[in-house]
This record gives sequence, structure tokens and C-alpha cells, in this order.
Amino acid sequence: MDENIKGNNKILFEIKGIERSYPGVQALKDVTFNINRNDVIGFAGENGAGKSTLLKLIAGVESPDKGEMFLEGKKYAPQSFREANTLGVSMVFQEQNLVQSLTVYENLFLSHEKRFQVAGTLKKRQMISEAKRYLESFGLEIDPRKEVSRYSFHERQMLEIIRAFVIADMYKIEMPLILLDEPTAGLPEKEREILLDRVKSFSDKATFIFVSHRLSELMNACNRILILK
Ligand SMILES: Nc1ncnc2c1ncn2[C@@H]1O[C@H](COP(=O)(O)OP(=O)(O)O)[C@@H](O)[C@H]1O
Ligand SMILES: [Mg+2]
Repeated sequence: MDENIKGNNKILFEIKGIERSYPGVQALKDVTFNINRNDVIGFAGENGAGKSTLLKLIAGVESPDKGEMFLEGKKYAPQSFREANTLGVSMVFQEQNLVQSLTVYENLFLSHEKRFQVAGTLKKRQMISEAKRYLESFGLEIDPRKEVSRYSFHERQMLEIIRAFVIADMYKIEMPLILLDEPTAGLPEKEREILLDRVKSFSDKATFIFVSHRLSELMNACNRILILK
């Protein structure tokens, strides 16, 4: 099938002339590309090529020195990760971002709990049942009331991806953009395959940018690969 026909061939996200330097190093130089809805885009490139930096700019964790981004045709310049989340962009970091000592459901709604607050009290039972619904719909046998630290690295990666969907739903985002920074790096082969299969199977309801050192993984999971130099 012609890959351009995948999804409805509408541009979701645009990056135009993005540049970003740190003292003594230009991490990104004039990066321009488009992402269509339902794409799984791979970022390849050597260590230090700027892959993580580019994801952080898209996720609102850092700001570009130059250039512009557009989401659904509108100028996109998030000032924080949280703001990016509310606009439908989320990221699974190279260093995991879950709070180990909190429960699964607390992590899924972390820093977006307001929705469950009524007259100053948190509707815990509702949070738990909603978390359960998400975990089940993604086929995960995870107890939302247990501490995150009880689960494996692989399960925690899946939780981070599900959190991206949870937050997107909260803000009524119809097409989330989910950024995965080397999500398979610390995983044994079997878990790597499971994660890749899951990402592919989620691509009907989200758009992904996927960073990996393994070109074979990118070729398998992605419909387009951008090589950063
Ligand atoms: N916070 C930072 N401060 C200084 N230099 C940084 C910072 N983040 C990244 N860099 C530098 O920017 C370049 C790109 O880094 P990075 O985006 O992490 O690359 P990659 O993820 O492709 O390995 C590297 O030279 C790195 O040392
Ligand atoms: Mg990196």
C-alpha cells in the first residue's frame, strides 16, 4: 500500500528551520520536516546527533533558538511540558518519569488530577476505576492501586505510553503526538518486540516519533525515518 495513503494523509505537525545550541555545541541545525497523522516516524543518528534535544523542543521541555513549529496548522510554542500535554503532545523520556513510590493510578493522572477534584477532595475511587479501564483496554495486567516500583521496566514503559493517551483524552485531543526517546534501550529482546508491536498497534489512534539506536527496529516499526546529523 502506498504509505502516503496511510491515515488520511493530513499533516499533523510541522517543524520549520529549527535550531538549538548549547554552550560550545550546535545540537540542531536547520531542521525541517512534516509529520502526517498516524505516522510512526523514526529518528536515527549517532550519539549526540540531537535526537533527544529535538524531542524535548517538541515536548515543551526546552525552547528552540530559531525556527517554528505548527500543530494542526496552528503555531505551536509550548512553554512547558505540561502545556505541551494539554495541546496533545506527550513524551516518554530516556530516563523514566514515573514516581516510583506512587501508585499506578496516581502516576497515570499525575499533575492533571484537577479533573477528579470536587470541592477540594480527590475522587480516588473514580481515578482507580478509570485507570483500570485504561489498563484493561491496553491489555495490561497491572493493578492500578499498586506502587509503580513493583512493576518491571518494560511495564513501566507501557504505563508511560498509556499515560500519554490518558492525558490526551483528558484534554479531548483526538490525535495525540507521542514521543518515545529510546524506549527499547534497556529492554531484553522479547520485551523490545512486544513494545514495538504495541506501538504499531496504537498507531491507529496516535502519531508517534520513535528514537532508537537500532536501525532494524526503526525499519520495522516506522513508516518514515529522519536521520539527524
Ligand atoms: N542540557 C545540555 N547542556 C549542554 N549540552 C547539551 C545539553 N543537552 C544536549 N547537549 C549536547 O547537544 C548535543 C545533542 O545531544 P542529544 O540531543 O542528547 O543527542 P542524542 O539524543 O542524539 O544522543 C550533544 O553534543 C550534547 O552533548
Ligand atoms: Mg538521546
